[in-house]
Amino acid sequence: MIERMSQIPELAVNQHSIPGYTFESATHSPSSGDEWWRRSVIYQIYPRSFRDTTGNGIGDLPGITRELHRVASLGIDAIWLSPFFASPQKDAGYDVSDYRAVDPLFGTLEDFDNMITEADRLGVKILVDIVPNHCSDEHTLFKAARAAAPGSAARNMFIFRDGQGENGQLPPNNWQSHFGGSAWTRITEADGTEGQYYLHLFDSSQPDFNWDNPAVGDEFESVLRFWLDRGAGGFRVDVAHALVKEPELPNWGGTADGAPTPGFPFSEAPMFGRPAVHDVYRRWRAVCAEYDGERVLCAEANVHPIEAMADWVRPDEMHQSFNFPFLHTGWDAAALKAIITRSLRAFDAVGAPSTWVLSNHDVPRHATRLGAPVPAPRPGDGLGPDDKQPDMQLGLARAKAATLMMLGLPGGAYLFQGEELGLGDNTQLPHELRQDPSYARTGGERLGRDGCRVPLPWSTGGESLGFNDSGAGWLPQPAGWAELSREAQESDPDSTLAFYRETLALRRGRELGLGNLNWLVNEAYPELLGFENSGILVLMNLGRLPVPLPTGTVLVASSATAITVDSDSGVPLLAPDSTVWVSLEGSTPTA
Ligand code: NOJ
Repeated sequence: MIERMSQIPELAVNQHSIPGYTFESATHSPSSGDEWWRRSVIYQIYPRSFRDTTGNGIGDLPGITRELHRVASLGIDAIWLSPFFASPQKDAGYDVSDYRAVDPLFGTLEDFDNMITEADRLGVKILVDIVPNHCSDEHTLFKAARAAAPGSAARNMFIFRDGQGENGQLPPNNWQSHFGGSAWTRITEADGTEGQYYLHLFDSSQPDFNWDNPAVGDEFESVLRFWLDRGAGGFRVDVAHALVKEPELPNWGGTADGAPTPGFPFSEAPMFGRPAVHDVYRRWRAVCAEYDGERVLCAEANVHPIEAMADWVRPDEMHQSFNFPFLHTGWDAAALKAIITRSLRAFDAVGAPSTWVLSNHDVPRHATRLGAPVPAPRPGDGLGPDDKQPDMQLGLARAKAATLMMLGLPGGAYLFQGEELGLGDNTQLPHELRQDPSYARTGGERLGRDGCRVPLPWSTGGESLGFNDSGAGWLPQPAGWAELSREAQESDPDSTLAFYRETLALRRGRELGLGNLNWLVNEAYPELLGFENSGILVLMNLGRLPVPLPTGTVLVASSATAITVDSDSGVPLLAPDSTVWVSLEGSTPTA
């Protein structure tokens, strides 16, 4: 029989009374160096949903500056700031019309400078989200290309081709847009005739640049310097694997997002991972190296398998790459162990840290995902009011367990704004409010990513829960967020916010980011994921049975009910859906 305990006890259990823990040989040896980005925790701010100081319902840069000290106090190293550049906002700012301007929705260049000053004061770096694969169809370069003649220098900044068929009525090839439909849109030429097509791997409002044209590379080097000169700590690089295309643009039968498709290996995709793309990042690395303060590049390279992704972080390319295979691994101990091992090996092989991430602005938040019915109706997309709703209590328990496991791993970690409050998605968004282009482009078949992008709750009262003073919000917040607001959690020692602060402080204090990982196995409990890093045991119970804990002192637990005690034997047990960090100090692990 198991007795529930509200307090986490100090464990002082006789090691011999605990069955079956063994260590596997080291699977990870740290890559050389202790630069900040090898162990960093980077917090993603999605500006339009962070904090709105103007009351227009959209967050802004002054809102970030105002609240930055709260984010810094979590104990993070840097902010990744999603796009704030001038943009028609057809893809929430990933459609850039001027890479050197702040969109008036978000403020001014002076607001950017003020934000950097405050970040410097707090010792936090700001990474700018650069979007080099495509711009907006309202960018002056694209407007010029459209107006110019086929074959002109202006057109050559983009990927224009004649259509197929007698009258060019068919697109140049069969490529599909990531957001649904053809990846080609036909234009009307200056003389009023139906003309060439341009390529857009995303929305038709996002024309792809022609990276075979050296002028494109020069333009982007100048953009990088613009932000580095203003104090940016580096860049998160959007769709970093797609810039260079096979010149003949051959047909391709794989999926638009490059997900593994039988018969169409990722390595042969004509729009992903072409060898010349790496020259772009070698040039960018050299540019960053000219600046002080270890400016960094992080690749959003959705590349398969993970061993191939390591090519983006070779010593003369980027510093980090997002680990999507880790994010997409479900609640499965063996699968997590496999992807963590493969990630560490793959990135070690090129002397780079692995990174880890559970939530961002493109996927359902992990508190929703891990409480959602399995399998999710549309993987990668959000849930809607017509779907079976997630169990949010289970979701939050598992989310905190997954976070605690992730933050125990060596390498770099990414957090998404609001996960420190335990937020899930708004899974009840009315369809008419959806703004993600994938919703319209698929005729509603895909619900898109709006559910995870909802404005943050700062206080317990007010129409927008302190997101602004006006009560307006570009998307509505779900019911029940008042009690998850920052104000509600700020001084509660049992809150999710306190849990994140405590865990991040321990991670930093013990330098877990620079540590080694040794797998810990309890053969009687295959659904236990266990490892040791820097003298700390990280134990995550993904099974349905409580698992006996080894000797040590519990440093942090994912919930107040994570540890129970078997009332017959007195042995402390790790409850299902829970994670703990146990200090090994004073006890010697046996091999
Ligand atoms: C990846 C970004 O994270 C996503 O939000 C965006 O829609 C696409 N790239 C296109 O830029």
